[in-house]
Amino acid sequence: MKDTSELIKKAWTDFTEHGILESDVIKKDVADSWKICKSAGVDPLGGAGAVLDKTALKKRLKENENLIKIAHPIMEQIYNQVRGSGFVIVLTDKDGYLIDRIGDEGIMGEARKMNFVEGALWTENAVGTNAIGMALRLDKPIQLVGAEHYCITHQTGTCSAAPIHDENGQLIGCLNMTGLKEAAHPHTLGIVLAGAYSIEKQLALIRSNQIIDTAFNSINEGILITDSKLNLILANKAALKILGIEQEQIFHIPIVSLIQNHESVDEIITSLKPIFDAECTFCTGSKSVRTTANFAPILDTSGISGLVITFKEEKYVHRFVNKIAGYRANYVFEDIVAVNPNMKKVIESARKASITDCNVLITGESGTGKELFAQAIHNNSKRAKGPFVAVNCASLPKDLVESELFGYEKGAFTGANKEGHPGKFELADGGTIFLDEIGELPIEIQPKLLRVLDNHKISRVGSTHERQVNVRVLAATNKNLRKEVDNKNFRDDLYYRLNVINITIPPLRNRMEDVRVLANVFLSRLNKANPENHKEFDKDFITKLERYHWPGNVRELQNVIERAYYLTDGRLITEEYLPENISIGLKNEDSKLKDNIIPLKIIEERSIKNTLAASGGDILKTAEMLNLSRATIYRKIKKYNIDVNSYKN
Ligand SMILES: Nc1ncnc2c1ncn2[C@@H]1O[C@H](COP(=O)(O)OP(=O)(O)OP(=O)(O)O)[C@@H](O)[C@H]1O
Ligand SMILES: [Mg+2]
Repeated sequence: MKDTSELIKKAWTDFTEHGILESDVIKKDVADSWKICKSAGVDPLGGAGAVLDKTALKKRLKENENLIKIAHPIMEQIYNQVRGSGFVIVLTDKDGYLIDRIGDEGIMGEARKMNFVEGALWTENAVGTNAIGMALRLDKPIQLVGAEHYCITHQTGTCSAAPIHDENGQLIGCLNMTGLKEAAHPHTLGIVLAGAYSIEKQLALIRSNQIIDTAFNSINEGILITDSKLNLILANKAALKILGIEQEQIFHIPIVSLIQNHESVDEIITSLKPIFDAECTFCTGSKSVRTTANFAPILDTSGISGLVITFKEEKYVHRFVNKIAGYRANYVFEDIVAVNPNMKKVIESARKASITDCNVLITGESGTGKELFAQAIHNNSKRAKGPFVAVNCASLPKDLVESELFGYEKGAFTGANKEGHPGKFELADGGTIFLDEIGELPIEIQPKLLRVLDNHKISRVGSTHERQVNVRVLAATNKNLRKEVDNKNFRDDLYYRLNVINITIPPLRNRMEDVRVLANVFLSRLNKANPENHKEFDKDFITKLERYHWPGNVRELQNVIERAYYLTDGRLITEEYLPENISIGLKNEDSKLKDNIIPLKIIEERSIKNTLAASGGDILKTAEMLNLSRATIYRKIKKYNIDVNSYKN
């Protein structure tokens, strides 16, 4: 060893003083490095490092914060092994700046003399041939002893350095041990290499943990993980949010203490098989949260070593179902067409009703727009973003009404879905339920509906458990519900509960001025849908529409327009495309008029009806307008059997 070191020293002197490099004791990498130093003009008698100013150093330390954080404990571990043997352990960044240092006091003092301190640049160009500079340049472990160093001040020492890479293989720094040359040993390089390797592994592990952690916390499904005793050890952010708890609150508590009916947990322990889409209610403190959950066992050779539970809030699942099932309201108030002042008033009161959260009963003949109003009310309410679930009470088979409205528990009746089923009230949670043809609701279901309206709780068929729902009820009927109450077909308490606000839509014949505007709106919609087929109404066509009495109301008008539109070949929609019932009915009246054989009775009746329509069913006004006494008008109304109510708006 002594011989070699002297030979090396001689070679160094030959090279630095005379530029001759002939000795074969100099390793090729070292010889290359000496040449680099020479051409960079490094002073062989120098070797003190240039140190960054405070700000620049702070910046470097910040940039390499992560590396230092991970490397420091590993450097400490190494130091504990070599303490007292005169070594200093340093960490550099990828450019060769020292960013961390641990070592024995004595050697630290020596190191300070040549500026071997944080912030010093330790490349070959800066301080001559050294292990750090070479390891970084060549990207491989390097050990140097004594005169292999280019600068004489370093030749009392030995240094061993190994590069450090990130998980992508990019060079990010170097770990180095420097000591007195007498302590030089090949094992030192082994220690440094092992240290650099641990730093790399630790970095990769932290990185993959970061990825898993981000994924774990960025999913909006709740995730709970237990240990083998089924005590909770981990919950993601979504789980904490859904359950309304803090991580510390659940640590090490048994999972079964959080779940209301934990059959799924019991089942998985015996079957060791995952369970999907189970209904699972979590109870934490005062809060109870209904979810749809998956349970997966973590298995090892001895059985279950833990449980992973992933879950979504039921209301989130329902929202999804609603989206797919189309439980949405399409119409808004702007879609309701009217010029008639009474109709405008009705629209105005519906608008006012929409911003309250009261139940509304919408009455009106068939085809007057009850569903249109219900949708508009929902869309203008604070529940607009929630579901709008329409249920036609007349179309539900009597024995299924209850389960349709309130759902059923698994196995509630033969033919029931195995998993149980939410009812329309659950699906409408957070939104509006529209109970159409409410007059047809079977009398035996009525008390159940009343209870829901009273306490906002439902219980599924076959279940004793009650669920809280937040639903606004809009109901509609074309029946006279008051009369149904009198006839004992409808419960009066339910009637009052539903009828908090009443919207009565007048029949079309009582607002004939709306016929023309509605017809034009329907036509322009058709023209828009068929831009290549623009059509117009003939003057007589519209006149005829305005003389018809529209028993089917707006729906009938809409159908008539659509039919005529599609039957018309040309541009002009003429009266020949009116349906027979309209044209024949009107023709009969016309011919009677022409033949002048209209009995006075008919003229009188029509005159009274027209006046009632104009006065909105006000009998006194009608009498006044016709210049008749009160008694006479009452008599005549009775005589012609006129339903005055149908003219009221
Ligand atoms: N004022 C209006 N403006 C525009 N369209 C209307 C108006 N009234 C009704 N309609 C349209 O007429 C059709 C029938 O309306 P809707 O279905 O709301 O009536 P309804 O009262 O619920 O009838 P039913 O009692 O037969 O169920 C719908 O296509 C609706 O859009
Ligand atoms: Mg309807």
